[in-house]
Amino acid sequence: MAWAALRGHHEAHGRDFDLREAFARDPQRFASLSIEAPAVFADLSKNWLDPAAVRFLLDLAGEVGLEARRDAMFAGAPINASEGRAVLHTALRAPRGVAPFSDEVHATLDAMLAFAERVRDAEASGITDVVNIGIGGSDLGPRMAVPALAAYAHPRIRSHFVSNVDGHDLAPLLEWLEPDRTLFIVASKTFTTQETMANARTAKAWFQAAGGTDVAKHFCATTTNVRAAAEFGITATFGFWDWVGGRYSLWSAIGLPLAIAVGADHFRALLAGAHAMDRHFAEAPLARNLPVLLGLLDVWYRNFHGCTSRSVAPYHQGLARLPAYLQQLEMESNGKRVDAGGEPLPYATAPVVWGEPGTNGQHAYFQMLHQGTDVIPVEFIAVRETSHERLDLAPAVRAALEDQHAKLLANCLAQSQALMQGRPGSAGHRGFPGNRPSTTLMLERLDPHSLGALLALYEHRVFTSGAVWGINSFDQWGVELGKTLCGELLPRLASGDASGLDGSTAGLLARLRR
Ligand code: F6P
Repeated sequence: MAWAALRGHHEAHGRDFDLREAFARDPQRFASLSIEAPAVFADLSKNWLDPAAVRFLLDLAGEVGLEARRDAMFAGAPINASEGRAVLHTALRAPRGVAPFSDEVHATLDAMLAFAERVRDAEASGITDVVNIGIGGSDLGPRMAVPALAAYAHPRIRSHFVSNVDGHDLAPLLEWLEPDRTLFIVASKTFTTQETMANARTAKAWFQAAGGTDVAKHFCATTTNVRAAAEFGITATFGFWDWVGGRYSLWSAIGLPLAIAVGADHFRALLAGAHAMDRHFAEAPLARNLPVLLGLLDVWYRNFHGCTSRSVAPYHQGLARLPAYLQQLEMESNGKRVDAGGEPLPYATAPVVWGEPGTNGQHAYFQMLHQGTDVIPVEFIAVRETSHERLDLAPAVRAALEDQHAKLLANCLAQSQALMQGRPGSAGHRGFPGNRPSTTLMLERLDPHSLGALLALYEHRVFTSGAVWGINSFDQWGVELGKTLCGELLPRLASGDASGLDGSTAGLLARLRR
């Protein structure tokens, strides 16, 4: 019903919607299409939305039972049906006693944070370098969050992240790390992932070859597979549970590198920020519920306007890795072609998510955003205040940095303005069609609390669009085939046996063995 109404509305009004006319018609457009959510202000007014589209999208949310699905997630129902699991990352950031598994969650959190504080006592621990070895959800969250919160980081402990099975990731680090001053965190939910285990074994070999003796002191693990970690020689293990999906695991022990970088109090502030957004998602009416509106907007662009991608432009250097983090969150969650029951879907799902920090993207692919043939909705993330006051800087330097910040913000506003307004009256190479949609998310400052809220916002937005599409956003069967084939090809690389392979793979294998 709502889907058909949206289709009809798109044909009658959506196709020709013009943002400039919409603003001219409605002086209240900014006020009515902006939302104040915990720690995140959102301006949705530069989107191809009118009141009818919003109403039909909300109807769609009602028809798919979004609220009941959301409540089932929070309550711990096994909504990840293909794996028979609950989905309870929200329980990881709930205060003591208010969510399922509270005792286990808080006991592990307390132990993990106490360990982090012991490492942070650099004089006693002797640790100057922390190396997180993990991939996917066991890497992208802390890898993104540590630089995001650099202003809060320990001044003398360096954080490193190694993920690629390509030894060129790990090897350069090993050249200068000192075994006595290094803590390796082997981060793997399963403790079986090929890349992580290969890097962990190489790191252990390096540690022992370099004279390190106490593996148990210099290696720890964050995993659900405590037994495998023990077999590796690790005794300090911080666990989590099968109801925490890899890409939703920053809030669990997987956040240990971040906890070491910023300390227990800041890590708890991150959790509190995420919890505030959880409450907003659980309690705000759908029409004023930011993750719900963003998820519905994604459906509107993908399924009715045919947009195949969305660009994320964080105007804060600390969020440089956010697009990569979101790629896993959104595309591993909702890049599915079957519904939750395994039946093929008759419509498109997750768009490609991509981006670079502003202003860098402006001098690269923004050409295409402004003048390319495809319309690509853009998401700007602006941060009102800097974090420079946490640094010890001369007043002149501080003033220069504040001036840079003004330039950054002006660029951010200019880009969304240019996308929308275009350049009336110009044509040819200098013509800007305008009417290109964008969303601006704004934080007061990038701190642990706002980062937690921002990330939880994205998680729930993915939940919303996934619920509308009727897919299981919490499995990832699509990563399995490549792993299996890799396992079969590895011995063939050594033996040269190409029997039964397709012509291309056989040819490439032979060339690699020349
Ligand atoms: O291959 C995909 C995946 O399973 C992701 O979903 C996960 O985040 C990543 O691999 C790492 O898995 P693990 O934490 O078990 O090493």
